[in-house]
Amino acid sequence: MGMPDQEYAESAHFKNASGVRAECSSCHLPNDMANKLVAKVDALRHVFGHMVGRLSTDEKYEGARLRMAEKVWRNMEGNDSRECRSCHNEDAFVFEKFSSHSEGLRMSKGLAEGKTCIDCHKGLVHKMPDRSSGYKKLLEKLLAETSDPDIDADKVYPLETVHSYSNKHGEVESRILAATELTILDNAGDWLRVRVDGWQQQDVDAMIYELQGKRIFAVALEKQARKRPVVHSTMLDPDTEQTWHRVSYETWVTSNGMVEDKSKLWDYGAKLHSASCGQCHMAIPAKNFLANQWIGVMNDMKRNVRHLSKEQYRFLRKYLQLNAKDVKGEGRS
Ligand code: HEC
Ligand code: HEC
Ligand code: HEC
Ligand code: HEC
Repeated sequence: MGMPDQEYAESAHFKNASGVRAECSSCHLPNDMANKLVAKVDALRHVFGHMVGRLSTDEKYEGARLRMAEKVWRNMEGNDSRECRSCHNEDAFVFEKFSSHSEGLRMSKGLAEGKTCIDCHKGLVHKMPDRSSGYKKLLEKLLAETSDPDIDADKVYPLETVHSYSNKHGEVESRILAATELTILDNAGDWLRVRVDGWQQQDVDAMIYELQGKRIFAVALEKQARKRPVVHSTMLDPDTEQTWHRVSYETWVTSNGMVEDKSKLWDYGAKLHSASCGQCHMAIPAKNFLANQWIGVMNDMKRNVRHLSKEQYRFLRKYLQLNAKDVKGEGRS
């Protein structure tokens, strides 16, 4: 069992400041064996033997990991994480002394609401089971489809963050975030002159947002391009008393990586969401929160999705925001 051994050897349960080691069997000894004198190896074989025995290669192991992990999770959910509690005493935690005060509060609140250790500490010793193959495949397919495009649509959407340029082959003047709607003004094959319609907040000239009052990023402008957006109208947001400008911004992009059919982007977003956010709880629908609330929720959940790249994390956030409760219709249109 090379895989669990290696992961374990890198975890704080193998080596730590206090010199206490959690053996495999302290987390994996089955109920009916706890009182018997069984060799640890036998105990483990009892838990995983029928599966691990056949999993001679890493690949086979990864293929079965989710099934095995789910079995451990079910056990621990069913016995209120008894194995964890045999070493960690709930009453002995000093939440104020956690390395992060707010996360200590999070844990104490969760326990008070009836959550158990394993609800929040999945993937502590071992890698989280990999459910990414679905969305990774879809992304690869989209990247291939858009790598040499012959665009005949009026609008396109970047699949990933792209640079925009002052002219064909000109200097970089902005970054356009994935899923931003670009209206094509000039189609020169490899190059497109495009327009972004969006909103800017007074005095925040580095950023164009998708919608008024909602922090959904569309374009990040380089210094020399901050005067380029054209203001069409101005309004005072009654809730925040901030001034917002409706703007448009014209710039050049390469046609590489541009998706014509927005629904393909959202299929990718939906897969990314269910695979990354559906492991510990059901993936929570985008429409359960407001666009601006998703920023905070995604911050809170960041430590739970460390396997996502920055680009994937941003895409997921934008997918959730553009399909949020107060953005009805925008995301799917
Ligand atoms: C055999 C005793 C033992 C068992 C069983 C055990 N732990 Fe631990 N745990 C420890 C020790 C010792 C440390 C390291 C403390 C230190 O860093 O000084 C630790 C550290 C931790 C940490 C902080 C370090 C990290 O990796 O983030 C968390 C979180 C944790 N344990 C949760 C759990 C959970 C959840 C379970 C049940 C699945 C569990 N522990 C089971 C003894 C145990
Ligand atoms: C509601 C979610 C939640 C629950 C339930 C929960 N924890 Fe935690 N725990 C956290 C968070 C958040 C942290 C801080 C970040 C981290 O280490 O992952 C943390 C940190 C820890 C740490 C490290 C403390 C330190 O010094 O930073 C240990 C040990 C730990 N938890 C053990 C447990 C045990 C044992 C249980 C069950 C009795 C449990 N946790 C239940 C969320 C939770
Ligand atoms: C601190 C508790 C703890 C220790 C120590 C521990 N495990 Fe685990 N193990 C778990 C948890 C919890 C899971 C469920 C998956 C997850 O959340 O990572 C798990 C899952 C597994 C799985 C299922 C596949 C997978 O990766 O999820 C195997 C196999 C396994 N453990 C073997 C071992 C072996 C072998 C050792 C010793 C080298 C060991 N474990 C040490 C807590 C522990
Ligand atoms: C490793 C487990 C885990 C993963 C993965 C995870 N969550 Fe959570 N999530 C939790 C736990 C535990 C809670 C409740 C306790 C807490 O707040 O920490 C929670 C609470 C929430 C809540 C309600 C609380 C709030 O912050 O308002 C939302 C919404 C949420 N998660 C969304 C997500 C999204 C979106 C993702 C993917 C980016 C995700 N979760 C991935 C464990 C996870």
